Amino acid sequence: MENKYIRDCIKENIDTIYEIDKTGSSYNWTKSMFLEELENKNSFFKILYFNDVIVGYIIYHVVIDEAEILNIVIDNKVKRQNFGKYLLEQTLNNLAKQNIKTVFLEVGEKNVPAINLYLKFGFEQYGIRKEYYKNKEHALLMKKAIYNL
Ligand SMILES: CC(C)(COP(=O)(O)OP(=O)(O)OC[C@H]1O[C@@H](n2cnc3c(N)ncnc32)[C@H](O)[C@@H]1OP(=O)(O)O)[C@@H](O)C(=O)NCCC(=O)NCCS
Repeated sequence: MENKYIRDCIKENIDTIYEIDKTGSSYNWTKSMFLEELENKNSFFKILYFNDVIVGYIIYHVVIDEAEILNIVIDNKVKRQNFGKYLLEQTLNNLAKQNIKTVFLEVGEKNVPAINLYLKFGFEQYGIRKEYYKNKEHALLMKKAIYNL
């Protein structure tokens, strides 16, 4: 039977997360960047497991009634199997329960998979940051209002 669950990231997971990020994303983080998130009290660092194997992660910050998604990455081996959708959906549900009103994020303008995922969940573009990434790619600024119905 399928077994999908989400847990807090701990220090011991960082090597695995680093590898998933290195192979699965074009916007790579260093190990120290991941470790800093574990120390940041505004940061939520969540890992998605499938049959006890780590398949992806999400990092977001919460300040008062706003959240910002810093990164969401699914392992290359299991991309396009709805794991990203599941992780984002669970995250937005949790944020709604915490009375978060708005969720923000930045995404590379050429990052079609991620842009499509965010559009699917009702994120809208409200701005652009020119040459934001190291490779000079522009960042689209997106946001979504959420409600605790
Ligand atoms: C974005 C990402 C997390 C999506 O995860 P995933 O598990 O592969 O995606 P899912 O199977 O859940 O797909 C959800 C939706 O995303 C979009 N999507 C995902 N992969 C896509 C692709 N290769 N091309 C176009 N759209 C895609 C689609 O809208 C898809 O819905 P659909 O299957 O009904 O068409 C994944 O591609 C990833 O890890 N990308 C690299 C890291 C990254 O850039 N993260 C974003 C940082 S801002």
